[in-house]
Amino acid sequence: SVPTVTLSNGAVLPRVGLGTSPMNDADAERAVVQALEVGYRLIDTAENYRNEVGVGRALKSSGVAREELFVTSKFNKRWHSVEGARTAFEASADKLGLEYLDLLLIHWPNPDQDQYVDAWRGLIELREAGLVRAIGTSNFKPAHLQRLIDETGVAPEVNQIQLSPMWAKQAEREFHATHNIVTEAWSPLGKGTDLLDHPAVTAAAKAHDKTPGQVVLRWETQQNVVPIPKSANRERLEQNLAVFDFELTDAELAALAALDGTGSTAADSDRFGH
Ligand code: A2P
Repeated sequence: SVPTVTLSNGAVLPRVGLGTSPMNDADAERAVVQALEVGYRLIDTAENYRNEVGVGRALKSSGVAREELFVTSKFNKRWHSVEGARTAFEASADKLGLEYLDLLLIHWPNPDQDQYVDAWRGLIELREAGLVRAIGTSNFKPAHLQRLIDETGVAPEVNQIQLSPMWAKQAEREFHATHNIVTEAWSPLGKGTDLLDHPAVTAAAKAHDKTPGQVVLRWETQQNVVPIPKSANRERLEQNLAVFDFELTDAELAALAALDGTGSTAADSDRFGH
């Protein structure tokens, strides 16, 4: 089984999960069925991906016990209010066929709209009501997180951001660590960059008899980042879980860290709609 990390409010998060963007209902259903078969328990979806129904079908048909699953969703900016968060929860839970979610995230801060603190108050209420086990944010910068903390006294348990060796977010990770926020990584394999072909990655892969993808996911997990790579391919789904039986050396970690900022700037958050 996959190693876990305990969040600040006690929920237990697997250290690798499955991302499901971009996948439609049918693709997501197929991928999640296979992922659960090969041992995934953390499944990440969102209102915005429009595949919660497909994910829900897979969860149900898998026969995996509810308490073994860790299901995450996220909601859009139109729900940035206390009541809105509740409505968003109900819509996601209904589509997924679940009575509670393990983790619900504010998908984007949308600072122009400036209502994310209200959305956060709504999430705090949902956690108090037992409808969600853990609450967090996605694509929040330290300034946004600081505002949640200042105005509500409650820090997110998770902040999910675009992160890979090309896009290492060191300062953000330090901020998260200071506030006991677990960093989740979307596009952890550096989609849109040539990361998996980079000599720093391929050399480490060769040295450990692993694939480039596994080296990158190990770089992340070795630094307590929780990656949620997307794959629709059984072999790569399996590979992406099998990243806890080797350790990158300090030299390899440093060579990978040196890639920060060298990826194409086109790999920025907005491009893929995560
Ligand atoms: P596929 O679904 O065919 O496996 P990210 O999660 O970083 O956005 O990356 C997702 C992309 O990377 C998908 O195109 C996926 O394709 C591919 N991918 C997933 N796992 C691996 C791996 N271990 N090695 C290479 N490519 C991978």
